[in-house]
Amino acid sequence: MNLQSVKQRFGIIGRSQKLDQALDKALRVAGTEMTVLITGESGVGKEVFSRIIHSLSPRKHNNFIAVNTGAIPSGTINSELFGHKKGAFTGATTDRKGYFETVDGGTIFLDEIGEMPIDTQAFLLRILESGEYIPVGESKARKTDVRVIAATNVALEKNIQAGKFREDLYYRLNTINIQVPSLRERSEDIYMLFRKFAVDFAEKYRSEPIHLDEKARQILEHYTWPGNVRELKNVAEQVSVLAEDRFVDAQQLITIVPGLLDRNLPVLRNNFSNKNNNGGGMEEREILYQLLFDMKKDLNDLKGLVFELIKDNNLSVNDLTGIRSLMAGSNEEPERKHPIIQHHTERNISLEDIDITNNEFNPGNRKFEENRPIIIHSEHSSDNSFAETEDIEEVLSLMEMEKRFIKKALIKHHGKRKDAAEELGISERTLYRKIKEYELADKF
Ligand SMILES: Nc1ncnc2c1ncn2[C@@H]1O[C@H](COP(=O)(O)OP(=O)(O)O)[C@@H](O)[C@H]1O
Ligand SMILES: [Mg+2]
Repeated sequence: MNLQSVKQRFGIIGRSQKLDQALDKALRVAGTEMTVLITGESGVGKEVFSRIIHSLSPRKHNNFIAVNTGAIPSGTINSELFGHKKGAFTGATTDRKGYFETVDGGTIFLDEIGEMPIDTQAFLLRILESGEYIPVGESKARKTDVRVIAATNVALEKNIQAGKFREDLYYRLNTINIQVPSLRERSEDIYMLFRKFAVDFAEKYRSEPIHLDEKARQILEHYTWPGNVRELKNVAEQVSVLAEDRFVDAQQLITIVPGLLDRNLPVLRNNFSNKNNNGGGMEEREILYQLLFDMKKDLNDLKGLVFELIKDNNLSVNDLTGIRSLMAGSNEEPERKHPIIQHHTERNISLEDIDITNNEFNPGNRKFEENRPIIIHSEHSSDNSFAETEDIEEVLSLMEMEKRFIKKALIKHHGKRKDAAEELGISERTLYRKIKEYELADKF
């Protein structure tokens, strides 16, 4: 089966190379008995991939089950997966079959495998190596023949280091690794996906599909999509239902989904805080990792933008000296910094900041075409001469940024540390230490 027909059959939208590579790998391993580890952020399509693999495997006529390991309480997970004997524990009034028994001959998809308790990991390893398992309260091992596809949206290597994930299980699962790209990494697919969902929802709600104007489309393409395809689908549904007119412009889009202009770093995003820890809050190291990750991404976006500008404005070699050293990451001071983008760390971007039609690019006063990347003006660049690109180091000093986040959260919560800590996703203890470190104590 070729890629195109698989996409059609399973409703997979996208043409980006990274998606194709992942899908191609899935097709190649589908027919084997190999264990597969699918990695990728939440909502990128990991479960869809697992279903494709099963449906194209010799097991396709047998059962498939998707189990969200992270959602099952650790006290019952062994019983759910491997079954239990009557009387094995209080409440076990009958024998119960586990998923590994009911799916015998088929495929089991273990989502959020990083959340699996360590004792369960040992049982899973045994199944993978010998096909044997022991139901809770039983003494004799049983046999099963189940293909395992696991998925994770966290780096398991980190869990291994923290002693939360077995290294031997990791290597056993990771024989084949399929990385499903985030939507950010394939922004060329965003609009196509949106259109597909718009058509689907039009059918569902018995209306005409919505259409976006160019600027609205660019807003979608420049948003960071932390929830990936799932989030895009939700946005398409909201807009399909709430838009008054079937032709949606940028203003309408933002009115319906204001979050699309939210470029705050993830520390302040709700979905980032307190997910995987027991009320202790996220440790500062994780915040810093996330900040670094986002900085890297911003830098890559910037590079991409510079490439586009070079390409589309036919800049001569002389013009490029500064840009080249920027690309090469050299520390050498560029001869002339190119005024490309103003970086906002303090406030959200509002619609007025996004100006696609009116941008004049300075060297030859060439106009941007409609489909050029969004350029963000700073409030201070009142005239048409752009302000200079800010030094990356200057803008993104980690400490400075962290301090700002903390200040912002404290102001928002009127100095209430408990609430501020919760919003920041750090423990109160960490916040307390940070306040001292940054000498913010007397300010709130
Ligand atoms: N390439 C794609 N084309 C169309 N829909 C997709 C694609 N990838 C994911 N989806 C849809 O996005 C949603 C989230 O996918 P899912 O597989 O549950 O993500 P994950 O398991 O990574 O969290 C589902 O509704 C799925 O059908
Ligand atoms: Mg999922």
